Amino acid sequence: MDSETGCALGGNKVRKLEFELAPPRLSGTTCLITSGGPQSNHCRVTAGVAARLGLECVLVLNGPVPEEPRGNAYLHRLFGARIRSVQSREERDPMTRTVASEIEASGGRPLIVPLGASTAVGTLGYADAFVELAGQLDSLPPTDRTWIFLSASSCGTVAGLLLGASLLGRSDIRLVAVSADVSSFDLRLEALRLAREGGQLLGFTGELLETGLAAADEFVGRGYGVPTRASEEALHRFGTTEGVVLDPVYSAKAAAGMISWLRRGAARTSDRVVFLHTGGHPALFA
Ligand SMILES: Cc1ncc(COP(=O)(O)O)c(C=O)c1O
Repeated sequence: MDSETGCALGGNKVRKLEFELAPPRLSGTTCLITSGGPQSNHCRVTAGVAARLGLECVLVLNGPVPEEPRGNAYLHRLFGARIRSVQSREERDPMTRTVASEIEASGGRPLIVPLGASTAVGTLGYADAFVELAGQLDSLPPTDRTWIFLSASSCGTVAGLLLGASLLGRSDIRLVAVSADVSSFDLRLEALRLAREGGQLLGFTGELLETGLAAADEFVGRGYGVPTRASEEALHRFGTTEGVVLDPVYSAKAAAGMISWLRRGAARTSDRVVFLHTGGHPALFA
């Protein structure tokens, strides 16, 4: 349950930021700058980490400024981040660079955290998570095949898992990355790129276990953050049967994907199935 890791109400950004913000990269930094949508989980965790480290934080958020911020928008402010609003996604990067120049001009040292912390370095957080998960799986009775279902968007999480599986030579693993927005084609390309670049940082010269990676974009529905009947069913089912809170944007759609794959009989009864809960539940209260 990576929904309950670390700080700032957890989620998959915590493991990526552990690597992205590790010393010496952070040395001398006075301010973290990152960007996202108005309900960004990544911005929430970055702001929470900045607060804990005693750093300033500026979030460049696209979309309307809420009159009464709720969910992640509330938490962005609770963690003391300064918000710079822009109209569209396309304006986020230029504004991020402007904010960085302003901070430098006033004598500060900014560090820009890329979208979703999905960089080659951030990806290593999930290669490490895979090693942890493999240890847990190995303590269970053996199976021929293990499926891991998870949500994907900027792809650092799935890339890290793929790299971890490849490092350990785990051809028994089937990763199913259920998209929250991007096409399966783009998802796969980006996951492989990040896994390759993460591997280079580790001096990994082996092959990525590409055939163990599947991407599914058919659960996005009408778009990013728009619930589907299947995602609502999954959210309800996890709540009523396990007391587990999914989020409407990412994990509920990933769970919908998993339920659908299993109903279609994709897995054998002897297979093991893992659902990686990547967090995001503050968005339920948006
Ligand atoms: C809760 C949640 N789950 C999954 C994802 C997707 O992770 P990634 O961007 O590493 O593909 C995100 C990030 O956008 C997220 O906030």
